[in-house]
Amino acid sequence: MNKRIQNPAEFGRVAVLMGGAAAEREISLKSGQAVLAALLNNNIDAVGIDVGENPIEPLLGQGFDRVFNIIHGRGGEDGVLQGALEALGLPYTGSGVLASALSMDKLRTKLCWLGAGLPTPRWMKLRGPEDADRCADFLGFPVIVKPAQEGSSIGMGRAENKNELLEAWERASHYNCAVFAETWIVGQEYTASILDGEALPLIRLETPRAFYDFDAKYRAETTRYHCPTGLPLEKETALQQLALQACDTLGVTGWARVDFLVDQNDQPWLIEVNTVPGMTDHSLVPMAARAAGLSFEELTWRILETSFRRGGEGDAAV
Ligand SMILES: Nc1ncnc2c1ncn2[C@@H]1O[C@H](COP(=O)(O)OP(=O)(O)O)[C@@H](O)[C@H]1O
Ligand SMILES: [Mg+2]
Repeated sequence: MNKRIQNPAEFGRVAVLMGGAAAEREISLKSGQAVLAALLNNNIDAVGIDVGENPIEPLLGQGFDRVFNIIHGRGGEDGVLQGALEALGLPYTGSGVLASALSMDKLRTKLCWLGAGLPTPRWMKLRGPEDADRCADFLGFPVIVKPAQEGSSIGMGRAENKNELLEAWERASHYNCAVFAETWIVGQEYTASILDGEALPLIRLETPRAFYDFDAKYRAETTRYHCPTGLPLEKETALQQLALQACDTLGVTGWARVDFLVDQNDQPWLIEVNTVPGMTDHSLVPMAARAAGLSFEELTWRILETSFRRGGEGDAAV
């Protein structure tokens, strides 16, 4: 459990880092503005900083006491910023270096889960078009092809045959990271929001599109969000426990969002963990928080409290 703060002055001067240079820059700016407004409504001495390539320079000599990090993707969510902040001695929200780096890499995340005996769909790394035949033999079809270190469904595609697999590999190969194919799971999609060692109510996502792609996430009006899910309590609790274990395995702390699917045999499959999830007022963590009775202002306060928990990171459960 984090230290609970009663008085906004105890947070000191807070830098809200947003933007960054990754593909999810625009989403981060929206999240950052929403977080900044909520912190100011809480009478917290917060300053928004839109960082480009160098997130450290604007922090120097400004008398900041802590950082609310809302930079999504590489450079903000992957351990790099976390390492720099550790070196500067500035406390920050969310996971530390190791858990951030592991969670950003979907392949290594899966290796950790597999090692811990947690369910994640079968996969194969695609080094190039020459792996298409082996992949077809090993996984069959359909599969989903992903760049290992992107977010917001960027560069992803479903493939039903070898030609589509080659096309999907081509699309996924432009992101300067490994590419892999994963068995396509037919079933229901859920996300579990984690705050200070506890899971908030699950959300079930429904889209008429092939999957929860960039448009379904940010543009389409046809995406449905079911929160509460209506699952029997026992089932909801079991899935929340699985999400907590998924985080614990990676050493994820503070707050996070775990994406998973449940197939037609009721078997859950872990997909990925976001250690700096979206925080626009349409985002999923705020939606789950609302279902738990937490306003957006209360949620940002609780997330900022996670900056007090440093040292021995990842030792305790989430
Ligand atoms: N194995 C899978 N089977 C079916 N759909 C999947 C699978 N993996 C991912 N998806 C779909 O793709 C979306 C994005 O995948 P995810 O791994 O969560 O990447 P991102 O980091 O971009 O959110 C998921 O929300 C889900 O709709
Ligand atoms: Mg996801």
